[in-house]
Amino acid sequence: MLDITTQLTTNPKEKPAADELGFGNYFTDHMFVLEYTEGIGWHDGRIIPYQPISLDPSAMIFHYGQSVFEGLKAYVTVDNDILLFRPERNFARLNHSNDRLCIPKIDEEYALEALKQLVNVDREWVPSAPGTSLYIRPFIIATEEHLGVHPAKNYKFIIIMSPSGSYYKEGINPVKIMVEQQFVRAVKGGTGEAKTGGNYASALKGQEIADREGYSQTLWLDGKENRYVEEVGSMNIFFKINGTVITPELNGSILPGITRDSMIQVLKSKNIPVEERRISIDEVVEAHNNGTLEEVFGTGTAAVISPVGELKYLEVKYIINNGEIGEVSQMLYDTLTGIQTGKIEDTFGWTIR
Ligand code: COI
Repeated sequence: MLDITTQLTTNPKEKPAADELGFGNYFTDHMFVLEYTEGIGWHDGRIIPYQPISLDPSAMIFHYGQSVFEGLKAYVTVDNDILLFRPERNFARLNHSNDRLCIPKIDEEYALEALKQLVNVDREWVPSAPGTSLYIRPFIIATEEHLGVHPAKNYKFIIIMSPSGSYYKEGINPVKIMVEQQFVRAVKGGTGEAKTGGNYASALKGQEIADREGYSQTLWLDGKENRYVEEVGSMNIFFKINGTVITPELNGSILPGITRDSMIQVLKSKNIPVEERRISIDEVVEAHNNGTLEEVFGTGTAAVISPVGELKYLEVKYIINNGEIGEVSQMLYDTLTGIQTGKIEDTFGWTIR
């Protein structure tokens, strides 16, 4: 196992008040950094005071976007312990993304140990007000100084952490989502199932249009036929139709969400029928029109469980469940946040201290 050194800040920052947090606005006192050098491997892991990084303008990340990231959270429990939710899955997914982006894999156990130490150093930064948590952002960037197009020879793996409230200003209240018609997020064989910045950059144009029209996010359809539902900008999507919960199957262009997987397991454990399959936007519209579209909700680390109260598709606005939170969305939200804060027994074995 590689070493991790720790240098503590001599200048701790003031912590923001819980009601000022928002999402991703503030950063804790420390960060973790690990270097990769071709021929040596990953080395020099250290916890250091949070600070800017200095890169040469020719660093390859600036030119060809070779980068991956993750998102996970730490929570304060009712007993004042700190929990991480399925962090090993994030590092496994990071390695999956690494593989797609030709970035050398990290040692998942070492990354988890580094994360635990970092969270421990900044444990005072984990907020405890309802709906708040410490959002953790591990990421890797290509740092080799070179303009040829090839997998870089040097990288940095960094973990930063941000005390955060809800991702959407609506909180758990239903959001409005617009179905994107003109642009696509991902295609089969592309990078859609990797967590890489380029996927998010290419989604900005659709997001901008949605914003302009007063919608929180874009619902992406498949890149080939523009017909099958894929995912929303920052979450996976679920539809409850006539008692059955349906979510698009993982097809290579959809991000394999960890909250998505967890919620499928919760639904199964409650004997609520759940299907992972292709679902077209026409099927969703038809279900709305014949009164069987009971709920729509998104799942994500940042988004948690986010009910959808309105879908706009081809200029028609479809109001779901009278714009109110549905029973299943509420149950999943309560179960997930209950497990994450230690209020509900974690029978799935998802949390670690
Ligand atoms: C997350 O839920 O952690 C995500 O990565 C979504 C993000 C782009 C805000």
